[in-house]
Amino acid sequence: MINEQVVKMAEGLFKSIPRENIGFFPTPLHRLSKISERYDVEVWIKRDDLTGPSIFGGNKTRKLEFLLGEAKQDSRDYIITYGATQSNHAMQTSIACRKLGLNAVLYLVAVVPPDEKWPRGNLLLDRVMGAEVHIEPCSSGSANEARSRARSAAASRIRELEDKGHRCYDIPSGGASATGTLGYVEALLELGRQVKQEDDLPGFDHVYQATGSGGTLAGLLAGKELLQLDFELVPVDVGLVEPGFKEDIAALAEQALSLLGAGRSIAPDSFVIEAEHAGPGYEIPSIESSVALKTLAREEGILVGPVYTAKALSAMFAHLESGRIKKGSRVLFWHTGGASELFAEAEIVGDDILTFAE
Ligand SMILES: Cc1ncc(COP(=O)(O)O)c(C=O)c1O
Repeated sequence: MINEQVVKMAEGLFKSIPRENIGFFPTPLHRLSKISERYDVEVWIKRDDLTGPSIFGGNKTRKLEFLLGEAKQDSRDYIITYGATQSNHAMQTSIACRKLGLNAVLYLVAVVPPDEKWPRGNLLLDRVMGAEVHIEPCSSGSANEARSRARSAAASRIRELEDKGHRCYDIPSGGASATGTLGYVEALLELGRQVKQEDDLPGFDHVYQATGSGGTLAGLLAGKELLQLDFELVPVDVGLVEPGFKEDIAALAEQALSLLGAGRSIAPDSFVIEAEHAGPGYEIPSIESSVALKTLAREEGILVGPVYTAKALSAMFAHLESGRIKKGSRVLFWHTGGASELFAEAEIVGDDILTFAE
């Protein structure tokens, strides 16, 4: 699957990049035996739900190792970031900041209105971590308008903090900057090493992952290019993809490679976003995603989140059922976390979770 010399070259490129140790790596990679046998396909899972540092891991921990590495190197003490009130990214940022002695300031858009007195799920974890939380209501106008109000409010808070002598580091939603993207370039290097080390581990034909901000996708695209890998990447939209998204993601992948000093071009038409499994929209589960979540839970004892990972999982199951994934092939489901969404508001968990629809 991966060439030893290319691995050495890529490892060399990472040596000069600032990084903080936040999570536990490599994350486990294992076979899903019941699902593999049912479809006569080798189905494996990469457990980035177990990145740590708390029990609520996820894909953002990898990005934060580089983002907060850069912030620490530049003596920043306040980390500002954005998301929905149940953002896994914001929650993992609150936790990572505590581990490194930094202060997290979160600007969260109430796509689903939270109970602010008794917060649930990730919002509760943000409070436990003592993050500074600002909630931007969404009731008047669209979520995009609320996001731009949140960014203006954050800009004022940054000015206020800097006037007091603090140094702020601004992380875009989902950690999707060129620096954050490095997390998934490195993740592919980690996967390559795992595949090489174990004789019974397959290289993969298809890799499924949930796509929101697109930082994970950009990192995997950049990593695939850098490491000369030829699997099919299947990014599954969770309801955030808008026109121009693919161009932005290709540009982000290129910027991440430039940070490594490996200028390459990534064409927006070199990947296809799976758009059929976003369900009714962002932060809303579908019947299909609830069924996929329960199938993995009941057959393999693994929990995913209802509005990100379950959608990617539902796409993989649909492709196993339809034969788009051929018998005998090797598939990886990249688990990017989010099970803490199961303790979020009822709209996010969804009624279908309580019915036995299989
Ligand atoms: C659990 C989970 N999986 C996947 C994603 C998508 O990752 P990205 O934002 O890098 O596209 C998110 C985004 O927040 C997430 O919370």
